[in-house]
Amino acid sequence: MENKIGVKILSTGSYVPERILTNFDLEKMVETSDEWISTRTGIKERRIIAKDQTTSDLAYNASMKAIEKAKISVDDIDLIIVATISPDAPMPSTACYLQKKLKAFNADVFDISAACSGFIYGTTIAKAFITSGLYKKVLLVGVEALSRVTDWTDRNTCVLFGDGAGAMIFEASQEDNDIVSTYLGADGTHTELLNIPAGGSAMPTTKETVEQKLNFVKMLGKEVFKVAVSKMALAVNKAQELAGLTDNDINLYIPHQANLRIIDAVAKKAGVTNEKVYINVHKYGNMSAATTIVALDEAIQEGRVKKGDLVELVAFGAGLTWGACILKINF
Ligand code: UT7
Repeated sequence: MENKIGVKILSTGSYVPERILTNFDLEKMVETSDEWISTRTGIKERRIIAKDQTTSDLAYNASMKAIEKAKISVDDIDLIIVATISPDAPMPSTACYLQKKLKAFNADVFDISAACSGFIYGTTIAKAFITSGLYKKVLLVGVEALSRVTDWTDRNTCVLFGDGAGAMIFEASQEDNDIVSTYLGADGTHTELLNIPAGGSAMPTTKETVEQKLNFVKMLGKEVFKVAVSKMALAVNKAQELAGLTDNDINLYIPHQANLRIIDAVAKKAGVTNEKVYINVHKYGNMSAATTIVALDEAIQEGRVKKGDLVELVAFGAGLTWGACILKINF
């Protein structure tokens, strides 16, 4: 008899740093206005990591909340995946720092780099690793300290990003199939639209790259906007197709929270019921890999998600990368 392994989602957890940076604060830093930021993006404020905090500290706080909710021991975790583009250091992985802080020494660990789509890519990897029989309990974290890679003199980018972390715990199961479907995509011909030019082998960090602020995020916003709308709408529909589901079956949509206008345009293009779209971009801005999982955790805490609900996450980011996944929340 076939012994098929499925995935059960045990819990979620999230953490955002205490410090709030408002649009009015930004008005004092660059030539911008609350009016421009609010109408062009929907963002009102964002969280900023404390001076003495690191990316893995944010990840640790979110992970501990998920671990406590799941009522498991850190010793049970056999794999930790961290999705981030703002790691503690280029080497070793932020997952190694997190493992040390959690004392989760039975876990194999690695980072993935898929920018804002990192949590969806991570969910797909967790599913593949669990259903193949390789791992039994996986901690997936989406975390960013984007304020550390932001040029605070560039109004085109500095008003958009924020810091935060979210975590999810998965376990192997004979009965459950909580990762109902996942769909991923990428197009490396658009690497120049959204990137950090310096600090890698193509442009090692030098005095000049630092002076020219090339170690910070650069974005051609308008171009990114267009691809974001078409690819996120495609991903929403593809993940539903793969699961044999439609908009009627989805209880809540959690889109990547980069820009309210993108969220509205994706919902319209994908034929999504507007009332089912969760929004928290006004509070946090774009937290890249942390965005969808922080939003999901908050939606659960607010009672927007009930036991047994189907939630669809969709994201888009640098690469370009995109993806969507449909999750059953059964805890
Ligand atoms: O996380 C995944 C990837 N990221 C995204 O999905 C973000 C995608 N892009 C966007 O969300 C939008 O393109 C932005 C919010 C970045 C920009 O909005 P936009 O409507 O595309 O504005 P724009 O770039 O066309 O700029 C319009 C004007 C420009 O002035 P001029 O050239 O028309 O005189 C900008 O210089 O707004 C100006 N501008 C600003 N003005 C005040 C740009 N940034 C600001 C600012 N405050 N912060």
